[in-house]
Amino acid sequence: MTAGSDPDGRGERMTIETVGVVGCGLMGSGIAEVAARAGFDVRVREVDQAALDRGRSRIERSLARAVEKEKATPEERDEALSRIAYTTDLSELADRDLVVEAIVEELEAKVDLFRSLDGICPTRTIYATNTSSLTVTDMAAATERPDRFVGLHFFNPVPVMRLVEVVRTLATSDETAEAALEFANRLGKEPITARDASGFVVNLLLVPYMLDAIRQLERGVASVEAIDAAMTLGAGHPMGPFTLCDFVGLDTTYRIAEIMYGEYREARYAPPPLLKRMVTLGRFGRKSGKGFYDYGGEAPVPLPVV
Ligand code: 3HC
Repeated sequence: MTAGSDPDGRGERMTIETVGVVGCGLMGSGIAEVAARAGFDVRVREVDQAALDRGRSRIERSLARAVEKEKATPEERDEALSRIAYTTDLSELADRDLVVEAIVEELEAKVDLFRSLDGICPTRTIYATNTSSLTVTDMAAATERPDRFVGLHFFNPVPVMRLVEVVRTLATSDETAEAALEFANRLGKEPITARDASGFVVNLLLVPYMLDAIRQLERGVASVEAIDAAMTLGAGHPMGPFTLCDFVGLDTTYRIAEIMYGEYREARYAPPPLLKRMVTLGRFGRKSGKGFYDYGGEAPVPLPVV
């Protein structure tokens, strides 16, 4: 990062060259992949070797798919892979210009992480959270650099979805917001700026929609397949709401709904009982093999929900 004569870099234009990604699950692996493909030096941190290995193979599989789909050449794939380093040691993020957090959607875990990073990273390092529903302010306020804290919300699958929500809190400095927007542009994404309201733009609309689809099912309006077909054929959505729920993860959808309900106390964000029951039974969607559909065979088969 270039920050001129100012030792903290505060008040200077900030340029991001090195990126740390904490958490290499569905979102973190996607963020690491797109950053490496865009030419950034990326270091990924996971809690243990097994999680790190899973994250690495997710990135490798996605890049292999990009080559297969002719979205990348084999040379570009190899270059991207060579730009990603993997570690289980948080202190190896000490030289990063930007650290993006993509760990579990739990405030306490995220606050603990950023507090630990405060003891490791110089004040010039920008922190970003990929939270989908928590308020960015709650994390920023726990650090010593709320001015250098921003939300960078990506969408699944990260290599394919073009949007990034850049979320500013009341404390985010103009320089930090500009650096985050420039970073998103350099990734080839289309950033929009949003205020720090739980759910931001997309999830404020998408989450009640998915929950309403589940309520339709509870009321017996139509079957899983019929509702999915209705929204793909009748509204031109790439996926129906139940395929989307299974894709996002029912556990994730449930957690997001709980957080948004806690924030707004409006019934439309409250998770429907059927969603809760499915999560309790471990029916998390694609990741667990069963959700609204069973993914064990060649094609997804709808499962009974009553
Ligand atoms: N790298 C780059 N490009 C890739 C790729 C990769 N690893 N994998 C696939 N692609 C490209 C393909 O080449 C294809 O491009 P084309 O249209 O130019 O040919 C495109 O991505 C679609 O790929 P496929 O044809 O293989 O797959 P589908 O046509 O089945 O589309 C989908 C899959 C993109 C997931 C589509 O169904 C979709 O858009 N679904 C909706 C997803 C959505 O709503 N995501 C947001 C979820 S909410 C969220 O993430 C927020 C969180 O907070 C909960």
